[in-house]
Amino acid sequence: MIGPPVQVIQALYLDNPQGLADYIAQPVKKRPDYPEMPPQDYLDPETRLAVAEYMLAVKN
Ligand code: HEM
Repeated sequence: MIGPPVQVIQALYLDNPQGLADYIAQPVKKRPDYPEMPPQDYLDPETRLAVAEYMLAVKN
């Protein structure tokens, strides 16, 4: 486990895939019990949105 659980992320961004895609391009520090997330800005905007939509759709 590196970041927050997928269930937590889905609850935060369920109706907001673009918000998730924007966060991963330029993460802000939120949780005192986690390290900083590194920016995923090596992915282009379309790919970031596709990853976001996947994360919000995936079931475990
Ligand atoms: C495309 C890949 C990734 C996606 C889609 C992703 C997604 C996310 C999301 C949605 C959050 C929570 C945002 C929020 O609370 O508003 C998060 C937090 C976090 N992620 Fe990622 N992440 C990715 C890659 C990584 C990588 C490579 C690392 C570390 C090696 C990482 C470590 C973290 C950590 C530590 C947090 C908590 C940051 C904080 O709360 O301050 N993530 N990630």
